[in-house]
Amino acid sequence: MALTPNLTAHWDEPDSYTVAGYERHYGYQALRKALEMDPDAIIGELKESGLRGRGGAGFPTGMKWSFVPQGDGKPHYLVVNADESEPGACKDIPLMLASSQHLIEGMIIASYAIRANHAFVYIRGEVPHVIRRMHAAVRDAYDNGYLGKNILGSGFDLDITVHGGAGAYICGEETALLSSLEGMRGQPRLKPPFPAVAGLYACPTVVNNVETIASVPAIIRNGGDWYASYGTEKSKGIKVFAVSGHVNNPGIFEAPLGITMRELLGYAGGIRDGHNLKFFVVGGSSVPMLTEDHLDAELSYEGMEAVGTMLGTATPMVFDETVSVVRAITGWLDFYKHESCGKCTPCREGTWWIDQLLHNLKSGTGKTEDLATLNELCAQILGRSFCALGDAAATPYPQALNLFRSEFEAGTHTAADDLFDPAASVVFSGVKTS
Ligand SMILES: Cc1cc2nc3c(=O)[nH]c(=O)nc-3n(C[C@H](O)[C@H](O)[C@H](O)COP(=O)(O)O)c2cc1C
Ligand code: SF4
Repeated sequence: MALTPNLTAHWDEPDSYTVAGYERHYGYQALRKALEMDPDAIIGELKESGLRGRGGAGFPTGMKWSFVPQGDGKPHYLVVNADESEPGACKDIPLMLASSQHLIEGMIIASYAIRANHAFVYIRGEVPHVIRRMHAAVRDAYDNGYLGKNILGSGFDLDITVHGGAGAYICGEETALLSSLEGMRGQPRLKPPFPAVAGLYACPTVVNNVETIASVPAIIRNGGDWYASYGTEKSKGIKVFAVSGHVNNPGIFEAPLGITMRELLGYAGGIRDGHNLKFFVVGGSSVPMLTEDHLDAELSYEGMEAVGTMLGTATPMVFDETVSVVRAITGWLDFYKHESCGKCTPCREGTWWIDQLLHNLKSGTGKTEDLATLNELCAQILGRSFCALGDAAATPYPQALNLFRSEFEAGTHTAADDLFDPAASVVFSGVKTS
């Protein structure tokens, strides 16, 4: 399957993030078209495109927008989720650096469609250069009349606020993000009510991922049917895939949904020379791992479900035979334990228990019964936590045990570092554009 650069098409141009650079390539033409459309017609176009949220869950975007009640007399808000903290995920940050104006144009169109006059970008706190880039890009858009009062003489007003978070994975969960944006502790809220009805400041709010919103201008410019002509039956359109790990050419590859991992590996230069694929994780660390048996499965929402995993963020991490699976998932559990917000017991306590037993197996001091205890702990957390972070923490181990049981059994007598030299699995990776 051929690559289809859309959002990444002009990343080789040094001013791709400026209004001037963007206007050389259809920039802000979609906005001109959108401002002459009825807002509901824009939502209709999004529904026709089949675009599903690119933040991980894949909820249909047009449908989400249509849930915002109209004529309710309350302010409406658009909030872009730019917290990208999932281990392995690296697509929204490069998009904000190089395609900042795609995101801003998408935000203006989305805000017009849901009748919002104030939009926010919530960016993870550890990336100040991205926060600076987005501040500059927003200023640029104001200076060129695309933001502020009476945009392009349409009578539509929009202000954008760029907000830097304080660096917490849980603030990527949409309701925790809203609490954090309001100045409160970043912890998830009970749903329902969903943000579309009671979100920021208890007003109707759409929360969408960076890539979701940045995809909007091309859909409006070319039509929903154009976008829907890419992809598969249930997973329409084009996706930014970020491939990292033990490949010769790690980077970002934009392709229709339905491309396979084998094809993506081809674009990424294959497994690093002299090594073999051991396992890969498609959707960030929160989804079950796959092996070479799954290289020909379609990278689509339904294709990944069919092989027992999830597309998630579509940012595959690739691991070769030098990696200890016990060490890899212990690292992920260190992360989930640290990032658990502590609001609910299964996740707050369970992540500590899982992590402790995994550390024992990693250091070769585990007990045979730990293998079953870990499965039981994961089962107790899955589906019983307040938000999906708990589910994510309970996901890596059961599949890893299914696929690599002997490595966990070895953890009862031999340290992972004695079986797999940690230095052998270290790679230097960079992000290259397709
Ligand atoms: C622990 C956790 C972290 C999340 N982090 C992100 C994130 O960094 N970016 C994101 O877009 N969605 C993240 N999500 C999903 C959001 O809650 C939400 O579904 C998403 O922003 C909706 O946007 P979309 O419909 O465009 O995908 C996270 C969810 C959970 C449970
Ligand atoms: S599942 Fe974890 S992160 Fe989510 S509310 Fe419970 S303790 Fe917090």
